[in-house]
Amino acid sequence: MALITTKEMFAKALVSDYAVGAFNVNNMEIIQGIVDAAKEENAPLILQVSAGARKYARPAYLTKLVEAAIIDTGLDIALHLDHGEDFDICKKCVDDGFTSVMIDGSKHEFEENIKMTKQVVEYAHAHGVAVEAELGKLAGIEDDVNVDARSATFTVPEEAAEFVEKTGVDSLAIAIGTSHGAYKFKGEPYLDFERLKEIHKLIPDTPLVLHGASTVLPEFVSKCNKYGGNIPGAQGVPEEMIREAAKYGICKVNIDTDLRLAMTAEVRKFIAENPAEFDPRKYLAPARDAIKAMVQHKIRNVLNASNMR
Ligand code: G3H
Ligand code: 13P
Ligand code: ZN
Repeated sequence: MALITTKEMFAKALVSDYAVGAFNVNNMEIIQGIVDAAKEENAPLILQVSAGARKYARPAYLTKLVEAAIIDTGLDIALHLDHGEDFDICKKCVDDGFTSVMIDGSKHEFEENIKMTKQVVEYAHAHGVAVEAELGKLAGIEDDVNVDARSATFTVPEEAAEFVEKTGVDSLAIAIGTSHGAYKFKGEPYLDFERLKEIHKLIPDTPLVLHGASTVLPEFVSKCNKYGGNIPGAQGVPEEMIREAAKYGICKVNIDTDLRLAMTAEVRKFIAENPAEFDPRKYLAPARDAIKAMVQHKIRNVLNASNMR
């Protein structure tokens, strides 16, 4: 049981039809729900921390909570920085003991993205830490008017090959139509699978990463709305699309929104039904249980990662 890198997990996932879940963590209950699910499913696991999560929880807390989770469950876990925007935050996380960092230079020009990524790769690799980079932009539904405009921001396969060659990055996040948050599609969900296949064909040895991969489970959306929430029209990536993507090089599937929805739905329900209660444990316990059940469902039915540890 230890903090491990993503190297072996991805090597296995790359030659199989399953993907490793990378779950965003912000507090103790979220971590506990996720690790308990991974343990029961005997699944490989990545816990990831965004800059916002680091700021919210303060750096030492999340690393120590993940260490506690390893001691408590006996699991091997990869600890990853999600969307590091510059060298500085990547370096801090390497120095803090993270086993993987993401340098997200996707908003920069191609050459600048290469330059930033190379600098992080050099430092991280010297410390035994894996690096994820991103090429292409994850547009939200509000950003573009139609599929054509949206696909202009998708990853260009030839650029992906050049980028990996020039940076020496360990894994690559790509844009094929997913987006962050709970509103991913206006009409029919669409992912550019032909593009994914082309990228995988050109760089078959590079594990690919799917950001914005929450499925936005209707059960939690309706529960939020039933108990005072206001999130109409939320729509995620259909489960079968995630399963399909795992066949073409997607080794890491990023999930945050589904955790947020599960937690909020249960907290809302408990508070609405128990107006006299004010002990946070009373509503955080069912929220943690809901996260565990949701993550178990994902591992089993969406990621196909049960018993892949
Ligand atoms: O990709 C974004 C993740 O959902 C993290 O979100 O920056 O609000 O922590 P955050
Ligand atoms: P979701 O918003 O779909 O959960 O995506 C999370 C993500 O990509 C974190 O990097
Ligand atoms: Zn992301």
